[in-house]
Amino acid sequence: MGHLRQRRILVAIAGGIAAYKGAELVRLLKKQGAEVRVILSRGAREFITPLTMQALSGEPVHTELLDETAEAGMGHIALARWADLLVIAPATADVIARLAHGRADDLMTTVALATAAPVAVAPAMNQQMWANAATQENLTLLTQRNIQVIGPDEGEQACGDVGPGRLLEPSQILEALAGRFSSRQLDNKRVVITAGPTVEAIDPVRFLSNHSSGKMGFALARACAEAGADVTLISGPVHLSPPDRVKLVAVRSALEMHAEALAAAEGADLFIGAAAVADYRVASPATDKIKKDDRGELSLSLVENPDIIAAVSGLANRPALVVGFAAETSDLLAHARAKLAKKGLDMIIANDVSDPDTGFGSDHNAVHLIRAVSEQHLPLASKQVIAEQIVATLAKELAASSAAGAAQ
Ligand code: C5P
Repeated sequence: MGHLRQRRILVAIAGGIAAYKGAELVRLLKKQGAEVRVILSRGAREFITPLTMQALSGEPVHTELLDETAEAGMGHIALARWADLLVIAPATADVIARLAHGRADDLMTTVALATAAPVAVAPAMNQQMWANAATQENLTLLTQRNIQVIGPDEGEQACGDVGPGRLLEPSQILEALAGRFSSRQLDNKRVVITAGPTVEAIDPVRFLSNHSSGKMGFALARACAEAGADVTLISGPVHLSPPDRVKLVAVRSALEMHAEALAAAEGADLFIGAAAVADYRVASPATDKIKKDDRGELSLSLVENPDIIAAVSGLANRPALVVGFAAETSDLLAHARAKLAKKGLDMIIANDVSDPDTGFGSDHNAVHLIRAVSEQHLPLASKQVIAEQIVATLAKELAASSAAGAAQ
């Protein structure tokens, strides 16, 4: 059921005795790695409290359509856009009727109308209400509109009746929801990416750095997250917003990046070093701003920074794939092949930064994927397209390496 990992599931709980099972559904979804937000109707709040649902989901609970504070945070339209799937569980006869008629008289029904995500309902009601022709006609309308109806179960009811109308067990609802999502190339994989430049202090106001924009590393982080991976992006200072569903760790110096990368890479599946790490740092940065004097020159003493990717490759619990970049201005392939061996990498991605079409800051790139046994050229395309092609190749390699590991 790994398909639910990182999926954004909006759980709307309507008023009914089965509301407590909605709470259990939220717990199970979280256990599967889904991101969960909860809407509680006024009726539901008679049965369970927002505090319970906040504790289970780890997020503020949404209760009112017209609530100033909620609208200032994640309002109803933002919530509708956020969701990958909306499930109403339990869905009462009343909610089903209001959905069937396109009403938008509370937060739950408004979000159901406003979302482009798939919608599912898990009905729960008295067996006579379930059997009523009005309810059945409403359900037919929902089904015709591609709203998934999950359940109900049959059996003993809270009111003492026996028959159809019991909410399905949360584990069964969970299974039905997981079936809506296909598996992705990097589901259940943990990926660590370094990106951007590093900044090495000379004194409190000056630094040594380089022209890296971070665009390639950020594009890779987005492509990995879209492929289902759990992504940590360790970036030097850049002017980019982090992609959705990516954990950003902001650093400045190579030493900071080194510490964060080693901590995050331990036991990860894939490490991509897309950062332009400064080879040297100032041996002893001045604590006060360096003043101009009469000598007409200034010398800085530099010491070598640690090689982050080589250290990651040397970890005892090393990621299955360690991939580096080689940004070169001459003899591209020869330099890249030498770095592949020297740093103990599984693949190096070589790009020519002397070409303005593919260099630092450009939105485009053309690269060579170099492994010990094979080489592949990816012609000029946007960095996002290149990133997606790289991720597809790496996902296949990871699948092959875990299949080989399992066979041993
Ligand atoms: O700078 P260089 O060409 O050696 O970079 C090749 C690869 O090594 C890149 O993936 C870069 O992110 C990584 N690297 C690193 N730590 C360094 C220098 C480079 O991880 N100190």
